Amino acid sequence: MPCTAKKYECKRPEFTHEGTPDVDIVLTTQEIGRMIKEAGIDFDALEPESMDLPMGFATGAGMIFGNSGGVSEAVLRYAADKFNIPVPENIVLQEVRGTSGLREATLADGNLKMAVVHGLKNAQELCDKIQSGEAEYDIVEVMACPGGCVGGAGQPIISTQKQRTSRTSSLYHADKTMPMHRAQDNPFIGELYEALLEKPNSHKAHQLLHTAYKHRKRIDDDELTLSSGEGTDRCKIRVCVGTSCYLRGSQDILAKTLQMVEENAWGNYFDIAATFCSEKCDKGPNVAVGDAVIHRAELAQIKDLISKEAERRIK
Ligand code: SF4
Ligand code: FES
Repeated sequence: MPCTAKKYECKRPEFTHEGTPDVDIVLTTQEIGRMIKEAGIDFDALEPESMDLPMGFATGAGMIFGNSGGVSEAVLRYAADKFNIPVPENIVLQEVRGTSGLREATLADGNLKMAVVHGLKNAQELCDKIQSGEAEYDIVEVMACPGGCVGGAGQPIISTQKQRTSRTSSLYHADKTMPMHRAQDNPFIGELYEALLEKPNSHKAHQLLHTAYKHRKRIDDDELTLSSGEGTDRCKIRVCVGTSCYLRGSQDILAKTLQMVEENAWGNYFDIAATFCSEKCDKGPNVAVGDAVIHRAELAQIKDLISKEAERRIK
């Protein structure tokens, strides 16, 4: 999976049936890449073979889910007949493609209004607009990560915008090369509905495929102060413990920072706080020491900065 959040998602109680989890373990693309290397597998030398069925069969609609706008486009391809949405021969629905953080489209002769948003900051702004009545949509697609799952926290780290664009284009390219582009044309999906789910939106389909979310932010404040000094000239250390930074080791940096400050009796020089996602997940772990914000922070580097801040105050 491109996603570190799915490690927690698969543990949700509704994804366990009669004591058996639906998904045993979630591996990110980074992890699977490392495992392939560690096992000494020469990927390029492998003989290609077909994926296992039915899970290995996909249409282009599934392929483009990884891009921001991809889910909307797949939905539109599915609903085109019903809503009288003209689908060009090349099946590209340009209206929902693009890179801007918030995109809006009106289709079906003005009857279908949709918004596509990526990045949680943009999502928050969109929610505010909807809640205040400033905007109204029939379909809203939210991707938490920049660009969608192509920029997920479990993916190999992207250092340039060009790399992200190239991932996005490769998914659209793969869609073009697929024999089928609409989810309803997938024979295995048809079979699944006939044999088990009855029809789209059936009670059974809701039970097995739908879920709901509730507010589960661990703490309502933006940050949690863990240690606070009494000196007049104090330096603030902020360590992000959001899911992505946490998985990249921020908890350890935080624990060792607290320990270092305590062992050296520097408590009066520093305020130390745990903070929550600041939308820079792909650059985590994110740590701020005073005004310096350190992306991809390493413990030694943070310790060094803290020592310098302490020395300045001791002098
Ligand atoms: S957009 Fe990000 S958080 Fe959402 S499913 Fe994709 S990788 Fe996970
Ligand atoms: S988890 Fe998103 S910035 Fe740290």
